[in-house]
Amino acid sequence: MSCDLLILGGGPAGFRAAERAGHFGLSVTIFEGNMLGGVCLNEGCIPTKTLLYSAKLYDYAKGGAQKYGVITTGAELDHAFVVARKDKLVQKLVAGVEMQMKKARATVVRAWGTLAGRNDVGEFIVRAGDAEYTGKNVLIATGSSAAIPPIPGLRKALESGFAVTNREILALREVPKRLVVLGAGAIGLEMASYFNSAGAEVTVVEMLDRIGGRLDKDASNLLQRNYTARGVKFLTGCRVQKLEPGRVAGVKQDGTEFELETDLVLAAAGRKPNTAGIGLESLGIELRPNGGILTDEKMRTNVPGVFAAGDATGVSMLAHTAYREAETAVNIIRGVEDTMRYDAVPSVIYTNPEVASVGETEESARARGLNVKSLRVPLLLSGRYQAENEGGNGILKLVLDEGKRILGVTIVGNPASEIIPAAAMAVTQRMTAQEFTGTIFPHPTVAEVLRDAALMEL
Ligand code: NAI
Repeated sequence: MSCDLLILGGGPAGFRAAERAGHFGLSVTIFEGNMLGGVCLNEGCIPTKTLLYSAKLYDYAKGGAQKYGVITTGAELDHAFVVARKDKLVQKLVAGVEMQMKKARATVVRAWGTLAGRNDVGEFIVRAGDAEYTGKNVLIATGSSAAIPPIPGLRKALESGFAVTNREILALREVPKRLVVLGAGAIGLEMASYFNSAGAEVTVVEMLDRIGGRLDKDASNLLQRNYTARGVKFLTGCRVQKLEPGRVAGVKQDGTEFELETDLVLAAAGRKPNTAGIGLESLGIELRPNGGILTDEKMRTNVPGVFAAGDATGVSMLAHTAYREAETAVNIIRGVEDTMRYDAVPSVIYTNPEVASVGETEESARARGLNVKSLRVPLLLSGRYQAENEGGNGILKLVLDEGKRILGVTIVGNPASEIIPAAAMAVTQRMTAQEFTGTIFPHPTVAEVLRDAALMEL
């Protein structure tokens, strides 16, 4: 029997598309060869957040809470318990996605699906195991996997267990004594944060001259300063070139070599879209230069009726982007106008303190030739921040164009992840500082600093 929508992949893009399509009465078949929930639920966003929350509590328990008059002794982190709790939560959330699929009346096929061209009435065919399924539309939501750069010794190290990716590190039953993190992107920094709290000696090696990729420079510096004070070592401007058992070697920007002894290496050098072996060639679907599926702002591929969303597109590689892309694709399929915008996608690094940003940084705006003004304010402007962040050095940066339109916001400090949606709304709606301050923020909150910063610009 044919359906309205065949979905390859049951991660955030796939399951959100199935939910929305089901909600609007479309018939859906969704293929998942591994676990529903994808990387985000099983080995990404949620598992890491459970670990990081335990680390935060432990940091308080082992002395951080003294600043607030709470004295504790004998605090311990039971890493195996933390991992077991993470596993339980993942199971619960995956079961939740299964329920949602039922509610959407989606047929879940627990096998890898492969595109296999069209049948004689022009419908798309997906093969899974020995069976064939047909549908009027296809959404490719096959996600991404850890990119393994061609560093001599890395593959062997991954095989032997001396190196791990984001997947295996979340299942470690013991905390390594020494950990080298290869790459200071979100994965590298979040795991450096957890294992630093858990007692490992952590060294982060990053080939760029700063951590956090495209993060605002001040925010990156502040984050690095905070983690250096907590004992994490950073080797920026240093490229890892070789792995040998127990050793990582590389070269600095000035040409000098470095070597580190370690018990474990986390390979966190980026992710690549999963587009191989899914039959794209059967329909002639085009790729981007980075291997992601080429899509337009309606999430359409070059083949009418075939859409892509999530990490498989290789554009933004964030679960919340995947949700919105999936929603856009479903709307286009059901004939409702919608457009995916990438200029206001918030991103968060869940370190402690958190770092969150949306839209332009001063640097990215200037690189685009925009004449912008950047305002930097301390989070200490908020009494609530002071009450809850003794000795805190958080900042908020606001980027405005000549017409005082809010183009971007970066925040270092807790709870940045819960404040950034307000900024994302301002950037999405292209609000001016004047328009933004028309909204009343509750007092006392840390979010007030965002409104206060805009107020300073009137
Ligand atoms: P990434 O691309 O963000 O960072 C990888 C870093 O590794 C880069 O800064 C790169 O310069 C560095 N690197 C590459 N090769 C190197 C070498 N040989 N020596 C030294 N440094 C080297 O990738 P990451 O952290 O693996 O994350 C993958 C994706 O997952 C990203 O798109 C990220 O946004 C997403 N993600 C998002 C999270 C969040 O939103 N909180 C959490 C985890 C992942």
